Amino acid sequence: MWFVMCVADIALIGLAVMGQNLILNMNDHGFVVCAYNRTVSKVHDFLRNEAKSTKVIGAESLEDMVSKLKSPRRVILLVKAGQAVDDFIDKLVPLLQPGDIIIDGGNSEYRDTTRRCQSLKAKGLLFVGSGVSGGEEGARHGPSLMPGGHKEAWPHIKDIFQSIAAKVGTGESCCDWVGDEGAGHFVKMVHNGIEYGDMQCYFCSELDSFLIEITANILKYRDTDGTHLLPKIRDSAGQKGTGKWTAISALEYGIPVTLIGEAVFARCLSSLKDERVLASKSLKGPQGAKFTGDKDQFLEDIRKALYASKIISYAQGFMLLRQAAKEFGWSLNYGAIALMWRGGCIIRSVFLGKIKEAFDRDSELQNLLLDGFFTNAVQDCQASWRRVVSTGVELGIPMPSFTTALSFYDGYRHAMLPANLLQAQRDYFGAHTYELLSNPGHFIHTNWTGHGGNVSSTSYNA
Ligand SMILES: *[C@@H]1O[C@H](CO)[C@@H](O)[C@H](O)[C@H]1NC(C)=O
Ligand SMILES: *[C@@H]1O[C@H](CO)[C@@H](O)[C@H](O)[C@H]1NC(C)=O
Ligand SMILES: *[C@@H]1O[C@H](CO)[C@@H](O)[C@H](O)[C@H]1NC(C)=O
Repeated sequence: MWFVMCVADIALIGLAVMGQNLILNMNDHGFVVCAYNRTVSKVHDFLRNEAKSTKVIGAESLEDMVSKLKSPRRVILLVKAGQAVDDFIDKLVPLLQPGDIIIDGGNSEYRDTTRRCQSLKAKGLLFVGSGVSGGEEGARHGPSLMPGGHKEAWPHIKDIFQSIAAKVGTGESCCDWVGDEGAGHFVKMVHNGIEYGDMQCYFCSELDSFLIEITANILKYRDTDGTHLLPKIRDSAGQKGTGKWTAISALEYGIPVTLIGEAVFARCLSSLKDERVLASKSLKGPQGAKFTGDKDQFLEDIRKALYASKIISYAQGFMLLRQAAKEFGWSLNYGAIALMWRGGCIIRSVFLGKIKEAFDRDSELQNLLLDGFFTNAVQDCQASWRRVVSTGVELGIPMPSFTTALSFYDGYRHAMLPANLLQAQRDYFGAHTYELLSNPGHFIHTNWTGHGGNVSSTSYNA
């Protein structure tokens, strides 16, 4: 026959580098992929160059693409998050049959993914929003994949997804089903937030982590003139916004994800470069303060402070996932999530294996810090962590992640916090009422001053 029909296992729309690499990765694992780009010349270029002598086929139009797919049809979108995703979905819907699957592998906001799940369900189509992490390199040789959405789609894409994902340990795939609706993109968002926190923590490692590895390489890297490159780089950090989204979700759902929040703010502060240059001329730090301790001992202290802070960051990340699961009625597999992050992606580290083990021991684990392994790990680091933070404070060195992590730890481990005073103040000035320890759930108001009016608890909002 001179024409070929229904041969492709899956189609991918969007031939930027991530899309091309994901196609080549699927091809390597024996899947026939149909490539499409709105600018059709990109398809021809790709087939002539990168995809030369592979089994990849191209499509001239969306109709052409759909006609080449086996049933149920599987279509991955790797296009710009936002309107472009909706536009392609609108064009695909009339071309697809009930039971066909659209997968969004872009960096979509989880709420958009939830909305798309709902609207496509009504049309009989299955929708999957998948986090893809690991950058271009990961996409080519093994990304971490975090799919969520219509679970009925999972049996039809599981084989492809788990084959192309990164592998760890004894070949376990860094990909598993995350949960309903936008859960995959939510988990990806928290993953990116943790990456922010990790980067803020690093300057010095049991962690065996990718970020630590690249940090060491960066510290050693020399410019063409033989001097170190790092001190020449302008100290104003950029951000694409996913760390910020995580912090916003944390505020929205009322979870103290302080380390990621602090990491986002630290980048904001760094970007005030001109103001800081001005301020550095008049705002003084501690005078004559100098580190006099044992440097090797202190390096060991820093390593432990880093480890403890990192545990706090992950504990907080999982707290946020738990709350989102509660909020949206998702049932999340926390151990699988840790495993998905274990390889392929930027925050990969052996440490994540320990998190997986903790959730294997107890899938309902309230907080990572309450797992014996992590309780002991933090306990073991504690004295060092406190020495590093207090030394930094005395010497006037900003250490936002270490300090905020330690404050969280100290707050979380106290049965009693001074929030009773806060409640009393709120009741005093705004009659917001409070509960007594002896009678929780029952709100009362006190006439603190012995004068003043009879204010109701709705008079003020502070
Ligand atoms: C088409 O390919 C280019 C890169 O060659 C990419 O930037 C763009 O996102 C792709 N767009 C679509 C809609 O296929
Ligand atoms: C508060 O106490 C004072 C003094 O006992 C009393 O005069 C006043 O009526 C009280 N106000 C209210 C709102 O209970
Ligand atoms: C305060 O106001 C509430 C509701 O307006 C009323 O029931 C109560 O009796 C008042 N208390 C005093 C002490 O005036």
